[in-house]
Amino acid sequence: MDKFIINGGKRLNGSISVPKAKNSYLAILAGCVLSSGVVTLHFCPNFVDIHKMLEILEVLGCKVEKKDNDLFIDCRFIHNYTVPNEIAKQIRSSIFLLGPILARLKKAVVCYPGGCDIGARPIDLHLKGLKSLNVEISERFGIIECSAENLKGNDIHLDYPSVGATENIMMASVLANGTTRIFNCAKEPEIVDLQNFINKMGGKISGAGTDTITIEGVEKLGSVEYTPMPDRIIAGTYLLGCATCGGEILVKNVEYEHIYSLITKLRDAGLEIEIKDDSILLVSNKRPNSFNKIETLPYPGFPTDLQPQSLVLQTISNGVCLVVENLFETRLKHVPELIKMGANVLVKDRIALVSGVKELYGTEVCCTDLRAGAALTIAGMVAKGQTTLSNIHIIDRGYDHIENAFNELGADIKRE
Ligand code: UD1
Repeated sequence: MDKFIINGGKRLNGSISVPKAKNSYLAILAGCVLSSGVVTLHFCPNFVDIHKMLEILEVLGCKVEKKDNDLFIDCRFIHNYTVPNEIAKQIRSSIFLLGPILARLKKAVVCYPGGCDIGARPIDLHLKGLKSLNVEISERFGIIECSAENLKGNDIHLDYPSVGATENIMMASVLANGTTRIFNCAKEPEIVDLQNFINKMGGKISGAGTDTITIEGVEKLGSVEYTPMPDRIIAGTYLLGCATCGGEILVKNVEYEHIYSLITKLRDAGLEIEIKDDSILLVSNKRPNSFNKIETLPYPGFPTDLQPQSLVLQTISNGVCLVVENLFETRLKHVPELIKMGANVLVKDRIALVSGVKELYGTEVCCTDLRAGAALTIAGMVAKGQTTLSNIHIIDRGYDHIENAFNELGADIKRE
């Protein structure tokens, strides 16, 4: 069951709801470790990365119950400070646990994290930030051991606004003595969501969404009931799917401001977009113009997690587009696969020059990482003939059966 057979050429029509955000949920689940009570989280999405994070929480000593789509996580008896290697190696967000475990148990042990193979993905900013909070760190054979008898708030400047480092340092500081300020922090909506979640448990964080976050340490955090934000990358994937294949879709349960960089590009390319409260209507009736330039940047710039899906749209658009991937060194691995499908793309290092062709054709291609997998699914949906997409388990890390979502809108995708 690791292949999609996609019969291309179908337009997309209908409406579709967006699930809650993977990246927000993952940070919030790590944040559960800070709670000395019971955490209730609503509308838990069915993504493999979230299942893995829940497995880790159980090993740490949380009791996890799921009723319908709600999660009840009893965090009162957390006692284990070692994140199991075999799970940590599979998800990037395992590293976010360092901060909250240290805050709660004064010690933490975790191996270098896994996740998508899209570049070097160092964790130096995480470790440097934690050291500034009076954490002692030793590393041996890829295992990171940290101890902090007395976490102390401090001023920290990040060389780069890393999402993970910002989240890790925020969570380590919540139970520290004194005040921490993180300068040049990430401004992603998921950071604001994490702040809101922690504050609802009794934390004192302000400034998330700006480039300075202030965390005043508190003694203890309690129980909370919370609903994380919608997944802006999945919303963008649906919009790009319809923009590429043609048709008319209503994407529901979205916070449109979170993907306004994409909406602006789609409008500039000639696509009709109407925003109604928490829904976005997209009409794609003619061949779109190219985006001209896509340059991925930290939020509110164009998201790297929508670069592969946007690049697919460029392959069939009218004109030429320059794609510059600034965040991750090797995040253009979907391009050779697209070239097999007839795309006209030149690549050098982190830059791709895409000249739109009239059509792609189906062939055998392989998912290289999560978002590239979503992008190649869209490529198969627009291509003439049949596409076989292998290695699709990678897509399940961040989409709940992407084929069902697109099939509901009229695509023809079978999992084999
Ligand atoms: C998170 C998201 C991922 C998204 C990325 C950027 C999760 C689980 N994943 O990943 O989907 O693509 O944000 O929006 O939330 N860096 C360093 N040193 C560090 C940390 C990062 O140099 O210690 C660099 C990275 O190599 C990369 C850049 O900073 O070039 C951005 O990475 P970062 O924002 O940390 O991404 P993640 O938190 O890993």
